[in-house]
Amino acid sequence: MLPKVDIPGSIPEKCYTTEKVGISRITHDEHLKLWQGYARKTNELRDLMDHLEKDATKANQVYSSIRALKVDYTFAYQGLMNHDIYFDTIGGKGGVPNGPIKQAIEKSFGSYENWVQDWKCTGMGARGWVFLAYDKNSGMLFNYLGDAQNTYPVWNHTCILAMDVYEHAYYYDFQTARMKYIEAFLQVIDWDAVNKRFEHR
Ligand SMILES: [Fe+2]
Repeated sequence: MLPKVDIPGSIPEKCYTTEKVGISRITHDEHLKLWQGYARKTNELRDLMDHLEKDATKANQVYSSIRALKVDYTFAYQGLMNHDIYFDTIGGKGGVPNGPIKQAIEKSFGSYENWVQDWKCTGMGARGWVFLAYDKNSGMLFNYLGDAQNTYPVWNHTCILAMDVYEHAYYYDFQTARMKYIEAFLQVIDWDAVNKRFEHR
């Protein structure tokens, strides 16, 4: 039996500094409700799975309770973790990174500018998320594209930076101009937080 996760109580105060680049307090406060929702649904699904009758004659790949619960569990739990990373890695000075992540980006992408270009394009091509992740197999970083909360993670990686590109993350502030939001995001990345995650990869 898995323990219950904590429900996020508030947006980290530093995140509100993103107002200076146009990502508003209202957007964050509304976003908190969604973040909390993923945590609550994670707990609800853990409870339902704990009490599910394990009857192999009822399990079915077209539709069955175990299938529905296990698929949606990854949407809820990964949704919680994606937002944990998002709100931990914004509210900083943005721009060119410092520390070990700077070298890692240069090693993996050739330059910070190349990384930015790939990040922007991945952000425009995604339906939900962009994840900067460290690939433990190759020792390199890669910008992964996500179309939903639970796509497309790969085993043996550590995600160290996440950008939400679902419309709820930017529509109130930028309407359909997603690139303006991405450019604002790049100005408020908390590279110290990213470095911490990178050091603990
Ligand atoms: Fe979100």
